[in-house]
Amino acid sequence: MIIKNLNIVILAAGKGTRMQSVIPKVLHRLAGKPLLAHVIDAAKTLNPSKMVVVYGYGGDAVPNAFTHEDITWVEQKEQLGTGHAMLQAVPHLDDDGTTLILLGDVPLLNLQSCMSLLEKPEALGLLTVSKQNPTGYGRIVRNHQQLILAIVEHKDATDTQKAITEVNTGIIAVNNKNLNAWLSKLSNHNAQGEYYLTDIVAMAVNDGLNVSAEITYDEASVEGVNSKADLASLERVYQTRYAASLMQAGATLADPNRIDVRGSLTVGKDVEIDVGCVFEGKVALGDGVRIGPYCVIKESSIGAESEIAAFTHIDQARVESGCRIGPYARLRPGAEIADEAHVGNFVEIKNSQVGSNSKVNHLSYIGDATIGKNVNIGAGTITCNYDGVNKYKTVIEDDVFIGSDTQLVAPVVIGEGATIAAGSTITKNAPAGQLTICRAKDQKSIAGWKRPIKK
Ligand code: UD1
Ligand code: CA
Repeated sequence: MIIKNLNIVILAAGKGTRMQSVIPKVLHRLAGKPLLAHVIDAAKTLNPSKMVVVYGYGGDAVPNAFTHEDITWVEQKEQLGTGHAMLQAVPHLDDDGTTLILLGDVPLLNLQSCMSLLEKPEALGLLTVSKQNPTGYGRIVRNHQQLILAIVEHKDATDTQKAITEVNTGIIAVNNKNLNAWLSKLSNHNAQGEYYLTDIVAMAVNDGLNVSAEITYDEASVEGVNSKADLASLERVYQTRYAASLMQAGATLADPNRIDVRGSLTVGKDVEIDVGCVFEGKVALGDGVRIGPYCVIKESSIGAESEIAAFTHIDQARVESGCRIGPYARLRPGAEIADEAHVGNFVEIKNSQVGSNSKVNHLSYIGDATIGKNVNIGAGTITCNYDGVNKYKTVIEDDVFIGSDTQLVAPVVIGEGATIAAGSTITKNAPAGQLTICRAKDQKSIAGWKRPIKK
């Protein structure tokens, strides 16, 4: 549903003292993404005609983190309260619109409850929640007919009001017509000396207008981050929910409490993910992919039926189908591993193509190389791609066999079907189909030689 002239204001000027950090609170990351980015992304799905973010603490650091977004940034130079923050935003809003007010430190927004709030016809709507321990929150004060009269902040509340468990989440929908008038009447004569946005509730009632409430039962969706402990606890909520969605999509997770997705992970059918894996950015796993324990996979795709064994690190790489990678392998940006290829332990591959059915199984560095099909790269092979200043390419054609502990000094081409003897240092192109050998030939043995003894 699209709400006509929907404006969204996100309040994000606060310092977040309890974070004990020099980074503005809303830039702290949840699931790899700044808190404010979670709110902005959720807000965008509501198709607002305008989105205003009020920033303050941290100065330009906050807007600078979102230069790609279509946002009106409004600076609140001094943080004089939520009402004062809204007053800065009002000149940028549509006269005949409706504004949804969100908080930059409440990242796990429930869009359904925002929609329900916006669908109410009243001039002012509050998203509320019932809290077992309402300490610190603004209380929703109702009369005997259960009509809302006011919000009273914790520090201003009487003991009777403090016993109220229904609280203001801070998420508010308001008709712009009245907003300006109400905000300009706010005073800071209260316990905190702040301009409280929440005082507009009593003003609306005073104007004879109905204030409605949408009560949410999704507590995490209205939970704000005030401390590192809050951040960690919402991170767990996010990850648990993400894990549930992966299982719903058919993935088998060894333990849904031990997976971290910091981006978007798409899974085919019968994907298995063992414990302790971290996925960052966009990652796609094809049908039947198995990921062993403690792998880190970032901005990469893994083709059907491939197996990524324990402790493997993959970053901006593409693994096609039926491959076996790891354990302890590292695929760096630009690694492209074709069907049925094997990459084994302590192998690092960067900016290189490995052809189908080829094997690099042990202790190798492959950089800036093109490796053809059915190639075997022996243990300890190094492509020497860097002379200290420039980088050069190694080309290894189809059906080549490279013996163990070979150095291929680039630029160099190893012709199709060539064999390179173990321990060779190859500095010139090796012809197709031949054995090329290049190693010190004077192997000698000294009879009667004794090992040194400890003095
Ligand atoms: C506010 C509400 C309270 C509600 C609670 C929910 C008011 C007066 N109180 O209280 O009823 O139960 O949120 O969490 O609104 N901010 C600014 N500029 C300011 C002050 C705050 O941008 O001058 C931003 C903060 O960055 C934050 C949000 O507004 O994102 C809420 O501010 P905070 O100080 O946390 O409000 P509370 O005192 O918790
Ligand atoms: Ca406050």
